[in-house]
Amino acid sequence: CGIVGVTGKDSAVSILLNGLEKLEYRGYDSAGIYVNDQDGHDYLVKEKGRIDDLRKEVGEAVHGSTGIGHTRWATHGEPSVANAHPQVSADGRFYLVHNGVIENFEDLKQTYLSDVTFKSQTDTEVIVQLVDRFVTKEGLSTLAAFRETLGLLGHSSYGFLLMDKEDPDTLYVAKNKSPLLIGVGEGFNVVCSDSLAMLDQTKDFLELHDGEIVVVKPDEIKITNQAGEPVERKPFHVDIDAAQADKGTYPFYMLKEIDEQPNVMRKLSQVYLNDAGDPIINDDLLTALKAADRLYIVAAGTSYHAGLVGAKLFESLANVPTEVHVSSEFAYNQPLLSSHPFFIFLTQSGETADSREVLLNVNDQHFPSLTITNVPNSTLSREATYTLLLHAGPEIAVASTKAYTAQIALQAILAKALGVAVDQPAATAFDVKQQLALVANGMQSLVDEKATFEKIAKGALLNTPNAFYIGRGFDYAVSLETALKLKEISYVQAEGFASGELKHGTIALIEKDTPVIGIITQKNTAGLTRSNLQEVAARGAKTVTIVTDSLAKDGDTVILPTVDERLTALLSVVPGQLLAYYTSLNKGLDVDKPRNLAKSVTVE
Ligand code: G6P
Repeated sequence: CGIVGVTGKDSAVSILLNGLEKLEYRGYDSAGIYVNDQDGHDYLVKEKGRIDDLRKEVGEAVHGSTGIGHTRWATHGEPSVANAHPQVSADGRFYLVHNGVIENFEDLKQTYLSDVTFKSQTDTEVIVQLVDRFVTKEGLSTLAAFRETLGLLGHSSYGFLLMDKEDPDTLYVAKNKSPLLIGVGEGFNVVCSDSLAMLDQTKDFLELHDGEIVVVKPDEIKITNQAGEPVERKPFHVDIDAAQADKGTYPFYMLKEIDEQPNVMRKLSQVYLNDAGDPIINDDLLTALKAADRLYIVAAGTSYHAGLVGAKLFESLANVPTEVHVSSEFAYNQPLLSSHPFFIFLTQSGETADSREVLLNVNDQHFPSLTITNVPNSTLSREATYTLLLHAGPEIAVASTKAYTAQIALQAILAKALGVAVDQPAATAFDVKQQLALVANGMQSLVDEKATFEKIAKGALLNTPNAFYIGRGFDYAVSLETALKLKEISYVQAEGFASGELKHGTIALIEKDTPVIGIITQKNTAGLTRSNLQEVAARGAKTVTIVTDSLAKDGDTVILPTVDERLTALLSVVPGQLLAYYTSLNKGLDVDKPRNLAKSVTVE
């Protein structure tokens, strides 16, 4: 979910609505705002659907100078007006927006609130009712009641913004595990779960740590820790131009972000490689990596798929055993570790709750870690021992594209750096700078062929209920990612498969015209994957091939420029991204905001 708040600006309503629009990628099934004009008028407006729907519902009359807003990705309770936030206490005095999950809300309800009639099915309503109870029945101040309530929440995750109608210029803020920032203004202040939401108001933000409570007024920000002691913190400056997060003339962010990939490759080369092509990586990080006997890459979703490619890079260039794990599994089923593990967290947003849970465990065990992320100052970047930034620019479309290729390119640079540091001939011989330049040009030639991909999408994917991507090695890793892209935004049931494994069961699903897309970029397995394509073609499948130029044969569908075999994922994924895009587009779907998803999932 996305959260925004503002105090001290007469344009609170438009600040909240604009902010929520920027946060829509965090959830978009319902939304709401509460505003107060400090003059006895206040408004609560909630709506099912998108921020646009809420905007229409808000209309002209609603105004105020302090307010809170929320865009929801449902956890407890279906998307509906009643379940949308802000949630309100029974007497209409307290208003609360929440991102996260209150694990013990049923118990709290029974213990403290058995006499209250609830209007929603949300865990959040329990919290606002509890605050109200502690204020009205026990005579606590709002702040004390808030603190008392937070003390009852155990390991729950929350970013909270609370307002009290009787103290209407104050925002009460608290967080545990969910991201929240305070934006510092002159004569006003804002709160948001991502700085992107408020970049047009301020670029100076205060990070919050778990367990902290903040009282925000127009000209005052008071942070206290769990024990109630004051905390001093300096703001950090966010160096993003609000225009970077604009989609310009593109119909969808996803297409813009696909197109940006050649530049992202060039940028990474500029930042992390010197003129001679040697990696520029912090010495301490390299020393820690050298000391490891095994690398553990931990990630979710698309980042996990980037990790699958990364592991092969670390093994082949740096000769270090590398495992890749899905974070939600690793968090509660930690495998046996080697004696000197080093953890690499791949996370575009730096906020994924599943991955953070693993990092907390890793920190408890005092293991060194690196977060590779696109978002400076994000939670996982702050809490890991080291951070490397992806420099991909804001990624807004829910389906990740440029962050995936950036993660792979940066892992290649890091693997090269580590390989050179441990004298691996494969690494010394690997000219990553030259290869990334080739990749950038190759990507450019692919994104320039949009019409071709639209045609293939229309011919093979538009009217199918299911599809398969197959490949071996690096190509298998990319098959998983391209299948995920298609699923996410076009709702075609797609599966990425190791091409040799398909015949051991799943081939039963092949029928006449089932699309099977073979990725062929690895010389040693090219022939085998071609045989596997023959097997499905013999059973009626409609086959499509995505093949490196040097391995191409007559009749291949998509030809990729030739680059080092270890970097082909950076090119072979692009057709998959564009096929998914055009399938979604031609189905008339909202490419950037597919149903049921959110870009940054801050609940476990
Ligand atoms: C969500 C998004 C995915 C993303 C995953 C991990 O599920 O919908 O696109 O890959 O989170 O996100 P992260 O920010 O950790 O890379």
